[in-house]
Amino acid sequence: MKFILTKIFFFLLIVSVTQAQELKLPSNPLDGRIVFEEKGCIQCHAIGGYGGTVAPDLAKDQYYGSFLELASIIWNHIPEMNRKFRELKMERPTFTGKEMLDLIYFIYYLRYLGEPGSVSNGKKLLTEKGCINCHKVSGKGGDIAPDFADLGEYSSPLFMAQAMWNHGPSMLETMKELNLKYPEISGDEINDISAYIRQASALTSVDIRMSPGNPANGKKLFRKKGCVNCHSVGGEGKKTGPNLSELDLNESVTDIAAQMWNHSPAMIDYMKEEKIKYPMFEGNEMADLIAYLYFIGFEDEPGDPVKGRMVFEEKGCVSCHENGGVGPDLSKIKPFDSRIQILQRMWNHAPRMEDLLLIRNNEWPELSKEEMQNLYAYLISIIQKK
Ligand code: HEC
Ligand code: HEC
Ligand code: HEC
Ligand code: HEC
Repeated sequence: MKFILTKIFFFLLIVSVTQAQELKLPSNPLDGRIVFEEKGCIQCHAIGGYGGTVAPDLAKDQYYGSFLELASIIWNHIPEMNRKFRELKMERPTFTGKEMLDLIYFIYYLRYLGEPGSVSNGKKLLTEKGCINCHKVSGKGGDIAPDFADLGEYSSPLFMAQAMWNHGPSMLETMKELNLKYPEISGDEINDISAYIRQASALTSVDIRMSPGNPANGKKLFRKKGCVNCHSVGGEGKKTGPNLSELDLNESVTDIAAQMWNHSPAMIDYMKEEKIKYPMFEGNEMADLIAYLYFIGFEDEPGDPVKGRMVFEEKGCVSCHENGGVGPDLSKIKPFDSRIQILQRMWNHAPRMEDLLLIRNNEWPELSKEEMQNLYAYLISIIQKK
């Protein structure tokens, strides 16, 4: 009975705590770039080829999971990084909560920006995908739709995705009339087509930067544009469309745009059936919405404090943090006011922990994503609430 009560207690605790601790979405995830440079990460790590070479390039095709997964990756690398700091005689940086959060958003976001496209492949695709049936490509092709050479503004993949979404219903209609198959597209293909448009429209400025998108605003748009009518995010609630938290949307921006494009005939049908107005996008709205979808993967599954207690024992945390050990009694430390603090405080205290571990000849306690999630749930369950 006592056990069950404890479980219920923990359950209630998790529910209340996770709700209170949900991380705020960033308005500009690229803000963390400054922290990344100021704290010297750039000395060792490059971002897409720019920066140091002694450590992995953090923008290379790598998706760094949810918040606590990222926290576990960084935690596990602390000894290796510390060794390098000493070797290069660099001062080891410490962080405020805000700096740590900006930094983590930034790293999480890197993958989102995707790869630059291929011009020649883009041109081939316009033919292969049948776009040329209606649009002109290098002067050849149909004339019921605009020539790609006049579509300079879509040399940014996000603006192209937005235009394709807005014109979706009329394109679909025309395709049906002409008996053409609806072309499925991948994220890389959107990049390639944009690269081609950039070249065909002879834009002089080569580096049109993609807007990073504002996830916080995207969350509002998700509601405002009626996506919530059919999709849930997190929570249950049976809806017409898939629960977007269960999908793999942690891809690059164009992969997400491609998923929307590929599913849009089905969505258009459902909207007709349910008499929902087809939402149009303007300005930076599609970029914001997609940035929000990308950030859905940042939220962690709630951990299990009972399992977290086991991690705390197995990883040897008890040996220092309980029964008068060298570390502080963690039930008495200042409460975490956001999840970011578990990483921030553990990072800041790591050198002292490492020294103590070295003296005792103990290994660094590596933590997997699940272990980190459970450990976090355990820690917030014991930390006194003030
Ligand atoms: C003195 C050099 C150095 C600095 C400065 C440094 N790192 Fe590292 N970092 C490394 C090395 C070396 C590795 C690879 C460690 C390993 O493989 O165990 C690494 C690994 C990582 C990884 C995991 C990469 C992967 O794909 O496995 C992340 C994420 C990371 N560092 C983030 C940071 C952040 C954030 C900062 C700034 C606060 C930073 N690093 C500063 C040397 C450094
Ligand atoms: C069946 C004919 C047809 C096909 C095939 C077609 N389109 Fe279109 N497309 C149109 C029409 C018609 C418009 C203008 C629609 C409108 O005004 O609402 C359009 C508009 C667009 C626009 C917006 C142009 C603007 O002026 O804002 C983009 C971008 C676009 N198409 C891309 C594509 C791509 C990429 C493909 C191939 C994957 C494609 N289209 C295939 C008929 C087609
Ligand atoms: C009228 C209902 C409806 C509305 C409104 C709607 N969707 Fe959908 N959506 C669906 C359905 C149904 C599917 C699954 C389509 C399929 O199976 O091809 C889907 C699929 C998707 C997918 C792809 C999921 C996958 O399996 O890869 C994404 C992403 C998506 N929708 C995003 C959005 C966004 C963003 C909005 C708001 C602009 C939106 N949807 C509005 C019904 C809707
Ligand atoms: C070798 C002893 C030792 C081990 C093992 C150890 N710690 Fe610590 N820990 C310390 C010491 C000492 C401090 C205080 C460090 C300081 O003041 O810089 C500390 C500080 C902390 C803090 C910050 C407390 C605060 O004031 O905010 C957290 C959180 C923490 N440890 C969690 C853990 C977890 C989780 C584990 C197991 C994965 C662990 N520690 C393993 C010695 C240890």
